[in-house]
Amino acid sequence: MKQLLIITGANGQVGSYLAQAWAETRLPMLLLIHSDGRRLEKLSSRPEIMIKACDLRDLASFKAALDEACRALDAVPARLVHTAAIRSYDARTLAKGEPLIWSEIFNANVSMAYNVLKACLPGMLSGRFGRIVMFASNVVQTGLHSGSAYAAAKAAIVNLVRSVALEAAPDNVLINSISPAPVETDLESDYEGEYLAFRQRYFAAYRAASPTGKLVSMQELKRVAELLLSEELANLTGQNLVIDGGASAPLPASPETGN
Ligand SMILES: NC(=O)c1ccc[n+]([C@@H]2O[C@H](COP(=O)([O-])OP(=O)(O)OC[C@H]3O[C@@H](n4cnc5c(N)ncnc54)[C@H](OP(=O)(O)O)[C@@H]3O)[C@@H](O)[C@H]2O)c1
Repeated sequence: MKQLLIITGANGQVGSYLAQAWAETRLPMLLLIHSDGRRLEKLSSRPEIMIKACDLRDLASFKAALDEACRALDAVPARLVHTAAIRSYDARTLAKGEPLIWSEIFNANVSMAYNVLKACLPGMLSGRFGRIVMFASNVVQTGLHSGSAYAAAKAAIVNLVRSVALEAAPDNVLINSISPAPVETDLESDYEGEYLAFRQRYFAAYRAASPTGKLVSMQELKRVAELLLSEELANLTGQNLVIDGGASAPLPASPETGN
């Protein structure tokens, strides 16, 4: 049986970059989209790639897509890269925001993470091979002004990863999270109005404060994900890899002041 790579959020900015890059390997892939698949059009005729629309809040529909892909591509779930997420699109503080929007965002992010693991793990455990990368965010360390539901959900995902790592390690299933700081993405293509302005301010403030002065690059995310998906790993599991230009590193005493 061949090994299937599953990418969620595959029409998203990071997901579509990874899908297009890894399509060059010609390995079987299941690309999960939601409301839109325009970034994957070039991959739609490839025989080793299945693109399925699915709401990941619904476990049954994700399981059905996974089963169909395994049958059609003659493959077993072996690698999962979960990038799907919903942001705190209201950009309101907890005190001022609507309770229903807060719980929608928190619940969607946590239940999507639960559902993809719930559906993929049995096949990986029985096949005694799995490599899983869950996208979290550097906000698990910093918090996020006007984004507490998203930040709280990402922190939940990091701890979900730690727990599942303990449960799955004996069966050679390794799971880690990647927590990037703001990534070099085309904000204008996905956002508008107030929320676009909010994200632009946040990205500019981050870049100004980051020791490297750079946003996280797609290439960097791809290389880190490839490491975590590698068959050669045996013990790297349960970790949250923060990629933030050194912003969270403990800073040494300043050479100028001696402090
Ligand atoms: N970009 C950054 O600066 C940054 C920074 C830190 C962490 N991250 C994390 O990195 C990951 C990738 O980020 P990104 O910028 O590529 O995000 P993105 O462009 O917003 O993509 C997220 C994808 O998730 C999909 N999605 C949302 N709700 C869904 C649902 N109910 N069912 C299925 N799919 C659903 C969206 O599909 P639809 O649009 O069709 O709904 C979208 O394609 C995310 O987990 C994000 O939180 C990103």
